[in-house]
Amino acid sequence: MKIKTYDILKYKYPEISVLALNFVNYPSDMIVPVFKSDFDKNYNIKSDDLIELNEKSNNLIAHSIKLNKFDGSEETQLIILLPDREIILLGCGEEPSFEKKEYINEVNPGFEKVRMLGILSSRIIDKLCKKEITIGIRGFKNRPSNIPFFIMLTDGIVRGFYKFNYKKQDDEKTNCNGLKRVILVVQEEQIKHAEIGIQSGISLGKCVNFSRAVVDEPSNILYPQNYVELIKEFLKDSPCDIEVWDLERVKKENMGCFYAVAKGNEGDKTEARFVIIRSKKKSKNGKIALVGKGITFDTGGYNLKTVPNSIAKMKKDMGGSASVIAATKALLDIDIDIEIVTAIPLTESSISRSAYHPGDVVTAYNGKSVEILNTDAEGRLVLADALAYISENENPDYILDASTLTSSCFIAFGLKIGGFMGTNPECNELFAQSSRDAGESFWEFPLSKKYRDGINGKISDLSNINSDFVKYGGTITAGLFLREFIGNCKNWIHIDMSAPIYALTKTYLGETALGFSVATIVRYVERLVETKLSKE
Ligand code: BES
Ligand code: ZN
Ligand code: ZN
Repeated sequence: MKIKTYDILKYKYPEISVLALNFVNYPSDMIVPVFKSDFDKNYNIKSDDLIELNEKSNNLIAHSIKLNKFDGSEETQLIILLPDREIILLGCGEEPSFEKKEYINEVNPGFEKVRMLGILSSRIIDKLCKKEITIGIRGFKNRPSNIPFFIMLTDGIVRGFYKFNYKKQDDEKTNCNGLKRVILVVQEEQIKHAEIGIQSGISLGKCVNFSRAVVDEPSNILYPQNYVELIKEFLKDSPCDIEVWDLERVKKENMGCFYAVAKGNEGDKTEARFVIIRSKKKSKNGKIALVGKGITFDTGGYNLKTVPNSIAKMKKDMGGSASVIAATKALLDIDIDIEIVTAIPLTESSISRSAYHPGDVVTAYNGKSVEILNTDAEGRLVLADALAYISENENPDYILDASTLTSSCFIAFGLKIGGFMGTNPECNELFAQSSRDAGESFWEFPLSKKYRDGINGKISDLSNINSDFVKYGGTITAGLFLREFIGNCKNWIHIDMSAPIYALTKTYLGETALGFSVATIVRYVERLVETKLSKE
């Protein structure tokens, strides 16, 4: 079967451009974001710009608002057919304050809403099937700076066009229904920032959509070998070199942990691969390593996942790899001034005659022996060798790894918040700030010494789970395990996004992969470069 992601890479997104004008005066089909604060409780318009727009419509807008009892609630829409054009009021709920004080340390709620506006606008555009549509940019008072606003908005617009399915009828439809142009109507003083933001937002959104597509691909369609080809295609115009190892090489290099997980894959298609992507650019700002868990399906191994719901979505277990690949391209394409090396261990975790067993003892790349007390804790094993290899051979100044690592992260933070931890408080703070900038919720777990003893092995240096209390603090245990493999690198961040990588609840985002963490990783690397954080 043809891999759908290739179509998504070829997708022709509409051109997004910007025009400086009072949106009220621009005579075209237009999406206008509105907030609850734009209306009183009797559905009368309160805001001056909307009153002006209404006057131009001979009161048809106000009439329609009253008739439909439209109050600007989030995710509602009102389409008003005027003689010469259509006005689509897009409800955005409460107008965001862009102030953090409302929720301590919370993701900037304003930016999340801006992205939502972009996503919902695209959905409307797609439905209406126009050649051209404008979005009248209004509201969102007190937003911090215009560039991030337009990055977020455009990133949202691009995300909103994402569709993933293998339905015959959708395959035959042409992309984008013939739509050619989206025009953002902005105020004169915003135009420069808008133009810059749009370019970054388009590039980021496309990378995010790639990461979503590979996560949405079923494991019978996307497996290590053809995933590698897809990665090469995705990165073909970006300044980097790609090295690929097969299973034999993994074994020969003494990656005993990765090999243990990978050797159980029987059949030619699913043979493991280790991918290393190196940016061509050298930089005085040093080098960052991005490492992503790439389990194309996690059965659990002989510690089989027995809860139906927990195994059902395990195609998403390569989400970490998807995020770091997408972030790598986004960073290469903005010509970021730091060297990047990205490492991805790719394998299924299966049950077979040759699969590893609970109780097996293996030796990791850095020489530490590991007793595998649970074959379902496979992510940390493949990451351990990738981290050790990269740390020893590439000497990165910074390391960030991304994964869908523990169900404990679900339990701690629920479905919408990712977890992270790290070895340098300055990097941790920078990462937390980056997640707020990017409109994604990440919270820090303590990399606490208290639980370090729990992963001491009985007959080996380490065990891959805390056998005393598997159920408690599992995300911390996994982090402590990975820390054993980062070598001399002082600036390590580990992120766990088991839940938010995929929308499990029905929201406007739909039930699909979300590309969660890509925007934060990109922003984090940008911030590292901006702040010139000490590398030591
Ligand atoms: N891939 C899973 C973690 C996961 C669970 C991701 C649910 C997304 C949704 C990981 O490999 C795993 O199975 N972890 C175990 C570890 C345990 C055996 C110590 C877990 O978290 O239950
Ligand atoms: Zn597992
Ligand atoms: Zn897993």
